[in-house]
Amino acid sequence: MRILLTGGTGYIGSHTAVELLKLGYDVELMDNLFNSKITVLDDIEKITGVRPAFHKIDLLDKVGMDELFKNGRYDLVIHFAGLKAVGESVKKPLKYYENNVGGTINLLESMKKYGVKKIIFSSSATVYGEQGVAGLTEEMQTGVGITNPYGETKHIIEEILKDVAEAEPEFEATILRYFNPVGAHESGLLGEDPNDIPNNLMPIIMKVAIGEISELSVYGNDYDTVDGTGMRDYIHVVDLAMGHVAAIDHMKPGVSVYNLGTGRATSVLEMVAAFEKESGKKLPYKIAERRPGDLAIIYANPAKALNELGWETKLTIEDAMRDTINYLDKKFKTRA
Ligand SMILES: NC(=O)c1ccc[n+]([C@@H]2O[C@H](COP(=O)([O-])OP(=O)(O)OC[C@H]3O[C@@H](n4cnc5c(N)ncnc54)[C@H](O)[C@@H]3O)[C@@H](O)[C@H]2O)c1
Repeated sequence: MRILLTGGTGYIGSHTAVELLKLGYDVELMDNLFNSKITVLDDIEKITGVRPAFHKIDLLDKVGMDELFKNGRYDLVIHFAGLKAVGESVKKPLKYYENNVGGTINLLESMKKYGVKKIIFSSSATVYGEQGVAGLTEEMQTGVGITNPYGETKHIIEEILKDVAEAEPEFEATILRYFNPVGAHESGLLGEDPNDIPNNLMPIIMKVAIGEISELSVYGNDYDTVDGTGMRDYIHVVDLAMGHVAAIDHMKPGVSVYNLGTGRATSVLEMVAAFEKESGKKLPYKIAERRPGDLAIIYANPAKALNELGWETKLTIEDAMRDTINYLDKKFKTRA
């Protein structure tokens, strides 16, 4: 099977490429390299022994996208490409709608033109909005109470995929709603390298660890949770990559939706403690005001992915911390 990974040099795309190449899939990557580096190809080759073909193309380049599909003869697209900085999306909403929604429309048009009928889409738990319910299941309402344009783009793209599937009976779309991806490849070669100022916990912990940020701000310690800090469902990026592998084997006409999460929630202070245990170093932090819109606790109910895809997570928070520290040691020694 010939698979195109849009956003293939990014954090989740590169880890998924590795798992697919290890299984012998014919994989090609496209990316505009806005938030990733071409050297990721060297790292993928070091890990797998295979250097996948790479196409430097922007989703917004309609001519380039058509050219890619004209020559590509792909059976399936895994669509990771998109902008993901939540804070930036609030300041630059049009950029996010144009890139994520407009880019996906271009992609779907090129797919249609060249007869590619299968797509797996990187969605997010943010589509559930502020439900105030932990243990989120796929049939719960989406699109209400989403607090930022980034999350809106994910919801809109999900709706577009449903409409396309309605219009084209042979169209097969699998929507994967990721919870909080963390960790790195065990080789220490691949991991997350945010160019932007991060607002997710793990990239901030990483920036504090390498000395780019002086301390972690913990937003609120008076929630009704184990230690008062917010709790989220952190999923190791390699488990997440394997979720895509499982999804490929179970594609069917119409739209299928799966949560990819662990089903467990970990608090901010538990994450800090896990980092300190694995690194042997103190992680400076301060308690700050709650952020508006933050919920106390969010985690997936991943039963559907287990029942239908036979997929479940295997790696732990400790694995994620160990792999992240190994990655930081290898990649950022000079910056520390
Ligand atoms: N990391 C998370 O916390 C998380 C959570 C939920 C969903 N997601 C989604 O998963 C997908 C992958 O996320 P990631 O963490 O690997 O992000 P990433 O930024 O590392 O990877 C995305 C890649 O897409 C590329 N890209 C962006 N716009 C493009 C365009 N117009 N044309 C071509 N390439 C473009 C970027 O250069 C980048 O390499 C994204 O769609 C993201 O929204 C991520």
